[in-house]
Amino acid sequence: MIALLLFLLLGTLLFWFIKHQYSYWNRRNFPCDPDTNIPCGCLTSVVKHEKSMGVALYDAYVKAKSPFIGIYLLFRPAVMIRDAELARQILIQDFTSFHDRGVYVDEKRDRMSCNLFSLRGQSWRTLRQKLTPTFSSSKLKAMFHTSDDIGDKMVEHLNKILPDEGRAEVDIKEILVTYAIDIIGSVIFGLDINSFEDPKNKFRCLVHQARRNNLINANIGMLIFLCPSIIKYLVRLGFKNKTAVGLREILKDTIEYREKHNIIRKDMLQLMMQLRNTGKIAEDDDNWSTKANTTTGEENEFTLDDIAAQGFIFYIAGQETTSSAAAFTIFELAQYPDLLARAQNEVQEVLARHNGQLSYDALQEMPFLDLCLQETNRKYPFPFLSRECTRDYTIPGTKHVIEKGTPIVVPLLGIHRDPQYFTNPMIYDPDRFSPSNPNYNANAYMPFGVGPRQCIALRMGKINSKLSLVKILQNFDVEVMSKREIIIDNHSVGIQPKGGVKVRLSKKEKPCY
Ligand code: HEM
Repeated sequence: MIALLLFLLLGTLLFWFIKHQYSYWNRRNFPCDPDTNIPCGCLTSVVKHEKSMGVALYDAYVKAKSPFIGIYLLFRPAVMIRDAELARQILIQDFTSFHDRGVYVDEKRDRMSCNLFSLRGQSWRTLRQKLTPTFSSSKLKAMFHTSDDIGDKMVEHLNKILPDEGRAEVDIKEILVTYAIDIIGSVIFGLDINSFEDPKNKFRCLVHQARRNNLINANIGMLIFLCPSIIKYLVRLGFKNKTAVGLREILKDTIEYREKHNIIRKDMLQLMMQLRNTGKIAEDDDNWSTKANTTTGEENEFTLDDIAAQGFIFYIAGQETTSSAAAFTIFELAQYPDLLARAQNEVQEVLARHNGQLSYDALQEMPFLDLCLQETNRKYPFPFLSRECTRDYTIPGTKHVIEKGTPIVVPLLGIHRDPQYFTNPMIYDPDRFSPSNPNYNANAYMPFGVGPRQCIALRMGKINSKLSLVKILQNFDVEVMSKREIIIDNHSVGIQPKGGVKVRLSKKEKPCY
């Protein structure tokens, strides 16, 4: 009897709490969706496992009309910024009121959660300053040969699986995921791996755990964004991210091996070891040493756990984005023969100018491929940017106040596919970005985010996507196919193509140069 009463009491309290939460925007006279679904708000389709979080937010964007709107992410009131100019105002000019993402981080008890993406306030600022030199163009240039090498291994692999004559269908996304994973394994974790030859290597198996399409991964991904406190409790109860723990072990072994044998390898791990040992990354581009000359008192502030935390987030943030940008570009070019021919000709001409040698500099001479990647990143962006309001903020020109602690969502997929910003948004048209005749609203274009928290590795992402495109266009013919759209899978936070990205390739009789 007591149990039943308790159950009824708890049920009533929960019902009251949810009802109260769901009246939040109405109580504030804030524009909001009148048909909000209790108890999951605009994420109902995600909870039912029908749509991905990115697509659910896209749907909410399309349904609404006002420049900003109060929404409910599960039972958390949040603000969706629909207007591109207002989004920029928040992300750039008014950054001091929105400097955090509000995702899970626990600086005191879980060092492995302290990555650049999650950290808040001054901790984020300090780390960002320290890590920024890692991604300078000169450092990336020094690491270029590693990516180039992995690109060659991808070509070797494709040559093995394609017939000598005729075409075959390949899932180009999966191939490019392997390429991107190996770049991260090599450049960031300092490993010498070839997942094309040895797909069961330890690193690839580990990171595949985090990519697996299952309900647990999908929900944890969502909870990190929406309910950081639930993740905090799970961690305190002993929940461990096995991938992150495994990656830490790999890094520990590699660092010890390098230090024992005095090995200097020009990669990001070397720079992070330098940061750990000397307190900063050297401005001198030729200095990759990890030996501390002076005692700055800062040496131990950046620890092995910090290196592992950054390595893990670089993997998460870099692998899917880089491979998607290249895969979706090939997929789109295959549907537009004129664009495909222009891309192929550009690769041919530039390689001819450089005696067939693909270098960092040669890559910079391919402006049409840049336009293609710009257009791909428009049509297939990471679906949303997130921030947390860090002090009460009055929306300019209105009386509406966003309270401190409220999550902010900028629905990039919606904005990037909105005809008011990009005419015929579903048409793949790289020339809309032509510098001499641009045809788009520049405020609305933010595939790498904008403001102080924009992607720290945008140069690296662009170079590695472009490099893989060149390798494919240089060595293979892409069969033209009829117009079609990617179907976005219902799991994951970003744009996961259902069934992969299938294109038909054939070996070129003679690789262009
Ligand atoms: C085509 C490739 C890429 C795309 C489209 C992309 C996109 C993005 C976006 C949209 C954000 C959020 C920005 C914001 O909130 O304003 C971001 C942040 C970030 N990205 Fe990338 N990214 C790419 C490649 C990479 C790579 C290769 C790495 C690492 C090796 C990386 C590391 C990060 C990190 C650490 C952040 C958080 C930055 C901070 O909060 O200070 N990204 N990226």
